[in-house]
Amino acid sequence: MSTPNIEQYKLIDHAYDVVIVGAGGAGLRATLGMSAAGLSTACITKVFPTRSHTVAAQGGMSASLGNMGPDSWQWHMYDTVKGSDWLGDQDAIEYMCREAVPAVIELEHFGVPFSRTEEGKIYQRSFGGMTTHFGEGRAERTCAAADRTGHAILHTLYQQSLKHKAEFFIEYFAIDLIMDEGVCRGVLAWDLATGELHRFRAHCVVLATGGCGRAYFSATSAHTCTGDGSAMVLRAGLPLQDMEFVQFHPTGIYGAGVLITEGVRGEGGYLTNSEGERFMERYAPNAKDLASRDVVSRSMTIEINEGRGVGPNKDHIYLHLEHLGAGIIEERLPGIAESAKIFAGVDVTKEPIPVLPTVHYNMGGIPTNYRGEVVTLRDDDPDCVVPGLMAIGEAACVSVHGANRLGSNSLLDIVVFGRAAALRAAEIIKPGTPHKPLPESSVTPILERLERARNANGSTPTAKIRDDMQRTMQKHAAVFRTGDSMQEGVDKMQAVFDSFADVGVSDRGMVWNTDLVETLELDNLLIQAQVIIQGALTRTESRGGHAREDFPDRDDANWMKHTLAWIDQKGTVKFDYRPVHMYTLSDECEVIPPKKRVY
Ligand code: FUM
Repeated sequence: MSTPNIEQYKLIDHAYDVVIVGAGGAGLRATLGMSAAGLSTACITKVFPTRSHTVAAQGGMSASLGNMGPDSWQWHMYDTVKGSDWLGDQDAIEYMCREAVPAVIELEHFGVPFSRTEEGKIYQRSFGGMTTHFGEGRAERTCAAADRTGHAILHTLYQQSLKHKAEFFIEYFAIDLIMDEGVCRGVLAWDLATGELHRFRAHCVVLATGGCGRAYFSATSAHTCTGDGSAMVLRAGLPLQDMEFVQFHPTGIYGAGVLITEGVRGEGGYLTNSEGERFMERYAPNAKDLASRDVVSRSMTIEINEGRGVGPNKDHIYLHLEHLGAGIIEERLPGIAESAKIFAGVDVTKEPIPVLPTVHYNMGGIPTNYRGEVVTLRDDDPDCVVPGLMAIGEAACVSVHGANRLGSNSLLDIVVFGRAAALRAAEIIKPGTPHKPLPESSVTPILERLERARNANGSTPTAKIRDDMQRTMQKHAAVFRTGDSMQEGVDKMQAVFDSFADVGVSDRGMVWNTDLVETLELDNLLIQAQVIIQGALTRTESRGGHAREDFPDRDDANWMKHTLAWIDQKGTVKFDYRPVHMYTLSDECEVIPPKKRVY
């Protein structure tokens, strides 16, 4: 291949104290906090901020306010550790559950229009795996704005960020991190509207770029969820953590994948099979339909596999809410009533919704500590901080969700750790500190990669490679996994990965070149798909969202550890491990020792 002509690219330079990549809930909470702390702050986003995927979050945000009954952050912490199947870091979980209460109150003061109880308090509903008294009762802990909680939070945070004069670079596609001798010094981004390239220098780059749900065929994630920041981290020679843990949400609309909130079951909805049986009573006699997501998704899959699915092909399950009545549905679940009508043609006051477990969330991501700083394994230090780099939200693996996230802990995670990152940045960066000179060579590999992709003249369309990847992942890294099926998947994914060498891009322009954007996004997805499926094959146990039929038990002796994965240019993944943090930050709670999960 000829040497890429990168001299043609003129770079527009910017210097900020901090640059946040991504304007979902995590990115906006960090943007708001950093700009309010007096740091010059830029937020780069490939979509308009209020179109970020947080807008699709429905059911709510957990916090032990105790508005609807007794609650405590220690109970919330217990549930989160148990839900994580003991892969979550207990210091970070303590931090998140404790900070949840002030975080919600702060959002209320920012102006989030939460639903209200009769007394005017924030309304809270039940969600899967959320209990009182360390597993004894059912908690009502999930603070909701009807079934549009993410929408309400996202709009409020954007307004607050504007108030604090953060600068937004909207419809800018971040291509790669600018690394210099192991330190992150900025990011290179492409302005889609003008076609110009911008070099952002920063004392800290915060990746808030979400998950990579679109590595799969059927996902509740937006088409923009291509894990761009996580891919940048891999290309920078840093690892991702626990990527084999992919959450399937039990109730994606059959055929469309659109989310139907767990809040439906929190309000009293339930699942049935072809015999009209409420089968969750068999699998989880106490929690029933509100068992944690991994348990419900597996139970549904077993029902279908054993021939008790519904529909002509017996390949899905029914979710009922007809019995709730039109009044409750209109007040608390208006959004899903609309989605069910549009995507399934169902009137939820009269008929059940056809649903199927659908890819929803990456528990894994960029490893960080609870302050949002990216960490790696270096010289035997498993918590070595990477200077100049933070990650928050679904992009990050703090790790508060371990092997399985509880519903409504994600909106909590983005707000708490977006704020934590801002607090940490304010501690370590003095506003206006000058930037060190940057070697030109730090952007050369980035421009070369861009130029190669832009001029790719192979015979395979981007869409074909993407489709091959999504179908392979859907089939071979699924709710249930076996060594044989995953080995077949690893082989197929390697072939898909290799086929990218023959990708063809037809538009050579720089202005709104969506062909090139999709190709760069595919490049990002491919390396993450490799990490997910190779990691899943390597982890020979079942834990949380990773359910192996050939290794059905959790194996704490060998596998209670975080996977770290690095990838090379050929798509080969190398693994190492970090210990799980089995300690707390304060003496107001105790370490929760591993035990078998019972629901
Ligand atoms: O079901 C839901 O509303 C999704 C919530 C979540 O993933 O936290």
